[in-house]
Amino acid sequence: MTNTTHFGYKTVAEDDKVREVAKVFHSVAAKYDIMNDVMSGGLHRLWKTFTIANAAVRPGFKCLDIAGGTGDLAKVFAKQAGPTGEVWLTDINESMLRVGRDRLLNRGLLTPTLLCDAEKLPFPDNYFDRVSVAFGLRNMTHKDQALAEMRRVLKPGGKLLVLEFSKVAAPLQKPYDIYSFKVLPWMGQKIAGDAESYRYLAESIRMHPDQDTLKTMMEEAGLERVTYYNLTAGVAALHTGIKL
Ligand SMILES: C[S@@+](CC[C@H](N)C(=O)[O-])C[C@H]1O[C@@H](n2cnc3c(N)ncnc32)[C@H](O)[C@@H]1O
Repeated sequence: MTNTTHFGYKTVAEDDKVREVAKVFHSVAAKYDIMNDVMSGGLHRLWKTFTIANAAVRPGFKCLDIAGGTGDLAKVFAKQAGPTGEVWLTDINESMLRVGRDRLLNRGLLTPTLLCDAEKLPFPDNYFDRVSVAFGLRNMTHKDQALAEMRRVLKPGGKLLVLEFSKVAAPLQKPYDIYSFKVLPWMGQKIAGDAESYRYLAESIRMHPDQDTLKTMMEEAGLERVTYYNLTAGVAALHTGIKL
């Protein structure tokens, strides 16, 4: 029997989800950065700054940015870890990774980039001081497997940071729904010529586990001291956990 999962609000075969997610990110890669700024009114930069501060990367650290896309986190981690550190920018999508790699190179940052699936990380156990995933977990088919892999590659004492859209506070629900389902696809069409990918974005956010559910999932994956921070009334949340 074929296993099924969600692609936005649709129930699809697991293999189809992987293909559909790939199609979304091949389609948006070239306009991804500008769309992020426009859609979030620049807020994604604040959420990432908060994540970077929480990561507290020091010179010599080994960091893995999963689903790193156009490299917002890896870029800063690479500067902070310095020449004695090791920062990997990874993603499953070639188009997104190519934009990220070029962006880092243009800034003189020579950091390894690797095409890989978060659910099967090609890294040894106990290797990284920090593992991060920003706005990526939502797109993964087997989130439990991906979280277990993230924990596996962390060193004892290492920290996982998961930045993701989350459940917005109740009073904001209605305007947020209008914005997500009416304005976002319209902007996607105008700026990136693609309304469908941004409709998927809105739906995938609604289908993603809320703050407490994700916290439990991280604990079930074996992470300890799992904490979350609501950002912009829960539009996004940063979850952190330690491997002990
Ligand atoms: C919304 S983008 C986030 C990019 C970047 N981290 C940021 O915050 O701007 C989501 C990324 O997740 C990647 N992705 C989806 N499924 C993945 C998987 N199974 N393994 C690794 N990356 C994945 C996509 O290719 C895409 O680049």
